[in-house]
Amino acid sequence: MDSTIAEPRIREEAARAKYANLPTLPEVTFRILELSQDPDSTTAEMRKLISSDVAMSTRILKVVNSAFYGLSRQIGSIERAIVILGINAVRNIAIAASMVKPFNMHARGDSIAFPPRQLWLHSTATATAARIFAEQLRFADANEFFLAGLTHDIGIMAEMHTAHPQLLRCVQQLQLDADGIPHVELRKLEIEQFGKDHQELGFEVCEFWNFPHRISRLVGNHHAPLDAPEDFRREACLIYAADRTAASLPNGFRLDLPEMDIEPEILDTLRITREQHYAIHQQVANALHDVTQLLE
Ligand SMILES: [Fe+2]
Ligand SMILES: [Fe+2]
Repeated sequence: MDSTIAEPRIREEAARAKYANLPTLPEVTFRILELSQDPDSTTAEMRKLISSDVAMSTRILKVVNSAFYGLSRQIGSIERAIVILGINAVRNIAIAASMVKPFNMHARGDSIAFPPRQLWLHSTATATAARIFAEQLRFADANEFFLAGLTHDIGIMAEMHTAHPQLLRCVQQLQLDADGIPHVELRKLEIEQFGKDHQELGFEVCEFWNFPHRISRLVGNHHAPLDAPEDFRREACLIYAADRTAASLPNGFRLDLPEMDIEPEILDTLRITREQHYAIHQQVANALHDVTQLLE
């Protein structure tokens, strides 16, 4: 057999088997992701695909018409949403909206030291923070950061679904103190247990699902943004800062964060002062209730 033909297929099958226990995203999401990778696809095809799914369209319109977006006029159709927000923004909202059901509360693992729902709430808080940071820092597509924030700890969610006993073993070794602060790095334990941490695993899951490559890269650098290539470092620092901002809110998830302070070098890279960060922290806390309701 020609190994050059067989190899990708074997690799694909191995990946499929490895991720077989991951929650499934809706079929329409996979088609949206497939279409967005196709250089010959058109905006009209994407509009048709999203509009064909009533539940998805309804959820997208609920998100864009929410107080969180603060648009001056209500948007009544997907077509209009694409005109106003752009196709990539609508695509990113569609992906974010489709993650609600599989990841909110339905994750297994009630026996581990945190309820899966706490991780989902942390993900929505990080998404909120990421969007607010992106707006304040005038990044072009705040929705991209929202999606990256929502996805950043997907590696932990994947471990929860595919390697629950090993994750439990990691959590037991965190040496949590009375305030729930870990004294051992989760990432170090993950590497011992799985050969990679949730940052790297998260990158792989996003790539396996055909998520936009920029999202995979942001997920893959959320704990070590200064290691990211220079052209991408500031974006990576944004997700790092959003994660820590969300983790420092009441009931924030911080099993993977022994330290929550944002390093001065990261604030410098973001070009933001401590005072500005504090103001963003307040905004996130205020917006959180609305966003949590949206993603229920
Ligand atoms: Fe993390
Ligand atoms: Fe996190």
